[in-house]
Amino acid sequence: MDFEWFESKYPGWYAEYGAWWEAYNRLKHPGANKPIAFEEVGYQYPHRCWTCMVPCLVRQDMVVDKVDGQWRTYCSETCAWTDTTAFRPEYEGRATPSMGRLTGKREWETCYHGQDLADIVKDLGYVRDDGKTLVPQPHLDLDDPKKPWTLDDIRGNTFISPNVSLNEMSDEEREAHVADYRSRSNITPSMLRPVPPGAETLPPTAREGTAGARRRRGHHQVRRDPAEPPPGRLVFVGDKHRIRFEPVGIEIEADEDETVLDATFRQGVSLMHGCKEGQCSSCKSFPLDGDQQMERYSTFAPADYESEEGYVLLCRTHAYGDLSVELINYDEEMLLSGIPPRQARATVAAVQSLSHDITRLVLDVHPADELPYRTGQYVDIEVPGTDQWRSFSMAGLPAEGPGGKLEFIIKRYPGGRLSGMLNGALRPGDPLTVKARTAPA
Ligand code: FES
Repeated sequence: MDFEWFESKYPGWYAEYGAWWEAYNRLKHPGANKPIAFEEVGYQYPHRCWTCMVPCLVRQDMVVDKVDGQWRTYCSETCAWTDTTAFRPEYEGRATPSMGRLTGKREWETCYHGQDLADIVKDLGYVRDDGKTLVPQPHLDLDDPKKPWTLDDIRGNTFISPNVSLNEMSDEEREAHVADYRSRSNITPSMLRPVPPGAETLPPTAREGTAGARRRRGHHQVRRDPAEPPPGRLVFVGDKHRIRFEPVGIEIEADEDETVLDATFRQGVSLMHGCKEGQCSSCKSFPLDGDQQMERYSTFAPADYESEEGYVLLCRTHAYGDLSVELINYDEEMLLSGIPPRQARATVAAVQSLSHDITRLVLDVHPADELPYRTGQYVDIEVPGTDQWRSFSMAGLPAEGPGGKLEFIIKRYPGGRLSGMLNGALRPGDPLTVKARTAPA
């Protein structure tokens, strides 16, 4: 409802900000994830204006200058002029001894650089009378005592001041960082990472179900098969059904616990898709017959009138009986050129820092395992010690046949599940599990 209101008042709002608020809702559960600013959601914490103290959100306007031996950021030319020209000991040839100066640790971020987020929040007094529950909460559901976030839920996240980081960079790194900052939006929806099957990905404010749905789905069971090496393989335990795609006549099998789109990946059928999270409509199709239901999906994909007509998003759809589906967007040649996701064992061969936030990661694929390459392929890497995966595009072609190397250029994010481990936690020789996936070209 909120999303619809914003979109109707401010057309285009959802394309710009929807992904952020979808992620905000998904990440609201205490203990299940870090605060959103420490998760990989395509958000880059903004620099702050040295003069007016407001974040430099109009990124292309940000000015960077060195003043009193310190690199500083400004939201605009006017604020830059104030500090670099007006607030100097001399102005237009006159001494200005009474003029103020903007000095010291002006940003609160710099005062708390390198400290634990929980200690910062406590120090700032943003804790309720019980001494542990946070005053700000990422949701309004405060009746259940298990839902409010406490200091324990945010402990373990180190806060980094953008200004301190900027001053620690080499000239080349700073130049590249500033160019990147100016070129980006505050939120980059395309950088939102796929979440594991079975995880709730969209908020309660999004719609659930389709016109044709006959039952609600409470939860999805996805679990590991302990007998199946190597680790990381997902095993589905629901009933299985036949899915037939028209007009091409291709049939696959889908488990109730996986989405129809995931079932196609598993069986090497390349359907059109994009976000895999019910937001982009690329996988929109029309069910002709059978029992199916959608998980939660974005309010704007598909549009209301399409939902009413019965269109579904295959990345959100579970089959609860044999299904016949008419494909809307497809390329007949591509359909059967997909490769079922192949899993392989790998070892970290190199972790090389290329700049303050870019790392080159090289993996050696186990000599007995093979990841056949197709155009459009990307790789899921299992985050060590978790059952989570992160997707990365390869920086070069992998070798044909078993073994070989995989190379990635990865941007590190504070708190990133995998990218956050590239600061020393992941070392040469560490074992990893990888999975090759193919998106339609
Ligand atoms: S792939 Fe984007 S909505 Fe299904």
